[in-house]
Amino acid sequence: MNARKTVLILPPLQLHERARAMLDAEVELIDGADLDADGVTAALKRAHGLVGAVTGEQVRAAPNLEVIGMPGSGWDMIDVDAATEAGVLVVNAAGAQHAAVAEHGIGLMLSLAKRIAYSDRIFHAERRFVGREHFMGDGWPGWAHELSGSTVGIVGFGFIGRDLARKCRLGFDMTVLTYDPFFDPDEAQRMGVRPTSSLAELLPQCDYVTLHVPLTESTRHLFGEAELRAMKPTAYLVNLARGGIVDEDALIRALTEGWIAGAGLDVFAEEPKVPAALLALPNITLLPHIGSATLETRTAMGMLAVDNLEAFFAGRPLPARVA
Ligand SMILES: NC(=O)c1ccc[n+]([C@@H]2O[C@H](COP(=O)([O-])OP(=O)(O)OC[C@H]3O[C@@H](n4cnc5c(N)ncnc54)[C@H](O)[C@@H]3O)[C@@H](O)[C@H]2O)c1
Repeated sequence: MNARKTVLILPPLQLHERARAMLDAEVELIDGADLDADGVTAALKRAHGLVGAVTGEQVRAAPNLEVIGMPGSGWDMIDVDAATEAGVLVVNAAGAQHAAVAEHGIGLMLSLAKRIAYSDRIFHAERRFVGREHFMGDGWPGWAHELSGSTVGIVGFGFIGRDLARKCRLGFDMTVLTYDPFFDPDEAQRMGVRPTSSLAELLPQCDYVTLHVPLTESTRHLFGEAELRAMKPTAYLVNLARGGIVDEDALIRALTEGWIAGAGLDVFAEEPKVPAALLALPNITLLPHIGSATLETRTAMGMLAVDNLEAFFAGRPLPARVA
């Protein structure tokens, strides 16, 4: 790699130390966390590469910029249009996170089906053994369920969706349906899942619906009132993708009025804000956007982001490319 290239890490992003050391060996690495606002402005002027969330304003303030590396699989936190207009390539780290996020998908489904987080909250709040009779009846918390034999609908059949499908089928004996208009249905069938051609076809059949699509203008509020009402009243929604994919107001009504049985959320529309109405609901398990936050995956994400930048500067084919 050309040793004179300069790469700026934009705060608040923290690159895993192994990835950082790898990059540091190849380029002049500047950590924006060590700089004040003027320092970041000066570093932007010199940077050939940026790592982290990048605004259009930052792209335009970086005249030497050639590449933006995102150590994640979403690219909604990068102004890809501004980058493309400036001739700047955007590369991400799709494919480095599927195991961690798919395991969280299983975790959220299990938490909802078996009332795990709910029971734990009651134990801690009431400091007593809650009678088992609460878990034998209709409604919430009511009877727990088994994943085995149930049906999951996976919306977005990319790296994470495919890994989750495998785990659901082989680990839990679930029937797996998918909706992904960009994934070859024959290939999906070969992978042991049943592709559907619309959400309207998928949703009424599922006991669990899990979301794994990128947030774009076409997926914003992909799940609104109509989609939530199309789910079974006994079904659970799991969102491990991005908060903006679900209309949060409609979700609160769905959970309050019983259109669906419950939800597991790792992501929110305006993080770190979480609507008070969501926090007040019992039939929900909440996580603070930690789907990929395992040591293994954070290391792999950072390494892939660095591999991408190194490949770009060396003129080699890129492991992952967004635009
Ligand atoms: N919670 C977390 O910590 C966390 C971690 C990693 C990724 N994510 C989110 O998960 C998303 C998926 O990650 P991935 O690695 O599987 O990405 P990916 O790019 O491999 O897969 C995304 C899939 O969504 C499909 N898709 C696009 N638009 C669609 C639509 N309208 N309807 C149905 N399918 C559609 C694509 O065809 C693709 O197969 C990311 O974009 C990111 O936002 C969240």
